[in-house]
Amino acid sequence: MKDTKGISKVSRRHFYKSALGILRNPLPFHHHNFEKYGDTFLLNVGMGREIIFSRDAAFAEYVLQKNQKNYKKSEIQTKDMAKYLGHGLLTAEGELWKKQRKLIQPAFHKKQLAGLLDKVKAAIVVELDKIRTDAPMDIFPVFNDLAFQTVVKSLFSAAVGQQEINRLQYITEAAQKMLVKELRQPYLGWYFKGFGKIKKHLDLTDEARQILKRLIEERKKSGERQDDLLDMLLEARYEDGTAMSEKQLIDEILILFTAGHETTSNALTFTSELLARNPEVQEKIASEVEIAKKASGDLMEFLKQCPYTQQVVEEGMRLYPPVYFIDRVPLEDDEFEGKSFPKGSSLLFSMYEIHRHPKYWKAPEEFRPERFSEARTSSYYPFGAGPRKCIGNNFAMYEMVITIAELVSKFRISGAKGEIEIHPLITLKPKNAILKFDLRK
Ligand code: HEM
Repeated sequence: MKDTKGISKVSRRHFYKSALGILRNPLPFHHHNFEKYGDTFLLNVGMGREIIFSRDAAFAEYVLQKNQKNYKKSEIQTKDMAKYLGHGLLTAEGELWKKQRKLIQPAFHKKQLAGLLDKVKAAIVVELDKIRTDAPMDIFPVFNDLAFQTVVKSLFSAAVGQQEINRLQYITEAAQKMLVKELRQPYLGWYFKGFGKIKKHLDLTDEARQILKRLIEERKKSGERQDDLLDMLLEARYEDGTAMSEKQLIDEILILFTAGHETTSNALTFTSELLARNPEVQEKIASEVEIAKKASGDLMEFLKQCPYTQQVVEEGMRLYPPVYFIDRVPLEDDEFEGKSFPKGSSLLFSMYEIHRHPKYWKAPEEFRPERFSEARTSSYYPFGAGPRKCIGNNFAMYEMVITIAELVSKFRISGAKGEIEIHPLITLKPKNAILKFDLRK
C-alpha cells in the first residue's frame, strides 16, 4: 500500500506463522499486535492486500462521524451481503442509503416503538417458556428464535404463520452462513460457484422474497391497520410524496431480519453467561424488576424503572460487542494525528479492543454494570457511530432489557463452567453457552 505514513507494519511472515490460530479466533493475534505495535497498525494479509487495524477511539470517531463523508463501507456489506439481501439500509450506499434512512428513521423513533412493545413482550414470553429446568441447556438457540420472532411480530403482527416464520428464519440464517463461508474461504470460490452453492442460496432468498411479497399484498388488500412496522413502512413517504417500491420494501425487510436477529441473540446469550457467573447481579435485577412491575403496567414506564437492568445489558455489550469490527474505506487520501492513509485502503476498527482498552476503562476485564450509571463514555460503540449508527438501537435495547428482566424474574441462572467461549465470525458469536435454569418460585 502506498502512502501509509506513521503506521507500524506487521510483517507478512508473522501473519502467515499465526494463520491457523487466526482462522480459529483472530482476536488474540490482533491483541498481541496492538500491544506490540500500538493502537493502530497495518497488516499485510497477502495477495497484495493490506488492512489498517485500529483500537483508537478518537480515530474511530473521526472516520465514523467527524469526517464520515470521506468514507464508504467495505464491499463485504455493500457487495457480498447485498448479493443475497439486496440493497437495503445496511448494504446501500450514497444517495439510495440517504433517501432510505430518512424515510425509515421515523418508524424507529422511541414514540413509535412504544406502540410495538406489547407485541415484543408477548413474543419474548412465548420464547422464554421454552427454557427447560430439568437439565442444563444451550441458551443460544432460545435467544436466536426469540430475536427472530420479535422482529417478525413487530413487522407483521400475527399475520405470519409459524411455518412461514420458520422458513424465513431458516433462509436468513442459511444466507448468512453461506456468506461466512465465502468470506472465510475465498479460495473455494470456484467450488461454491461451480457446485451451485451460491445459486442455491440465491434461490432461497428468492423464496423468502416471494413469501414477503405475498404478506405485503395481503396487508394492502385487507385495508386493516395493525400499527406494526409494516404499516409504518407502507405509509412512509419520500419528499416527493411517493411510497417505497415493493422491491425496495422487501429488501429492507430482509435487511431488518438479518441486522436485528443474530446481533441481539449474541448479546442476550453473552449477558446471560455473565449473569450466571454473577448471582449478586441477578438478585439486584430481580428486585429492581419486582418494584418496576408493581409501579406500572405500561412497558415504556417499566423500562424507565429498570436502569440497572439496562446497565447490565450495556456492560454485556461492552465486553462482548456483537458487532466487534466496523470497517470503512476512504474515498480520498486522508490523515489523522500524523497517520496518513490513501484512498481505497481498508480500515478496520476493533470495537472489542476499544471496549477493553485500559486507556478508556477502569478494570476493563471486569463485569461491572454500575460503570454505566455514570455519564456515558465516548469510547463505547456497540451500535456504531455517526450517520450509519444502528437504526434499531432503541428497539434492540428495549427488547433486551425486557428479555433480561423477564428471564431473571423467572429463573436463577447458574451452571457456568470456565471462561466464556467466543466464536468470532461476521458477528461475535457465543459458543457452548450451556447454563442451568431454576425457577425462582
Ligand atoms: C444488540 C443488537 C444490535 C447490535 C449490537 C447492532 C449493531 C449495529 C451496528 C454496529 C451497526 C452499524 C454498522 C456500521 O456502521 O458499519 C448497525 C447497523 C444497522 N442495524 Fe443494528 N444492531 C443491533 C440490532 C438491530 C436491530 C434489532 C435492528 C432492526 C430491527 C437493526 C438494524 C440495523 C440496520 C438497518 C442497520 C444499518 C443502518 C444504516 O446503515 O443506516 N439492528 N447495527
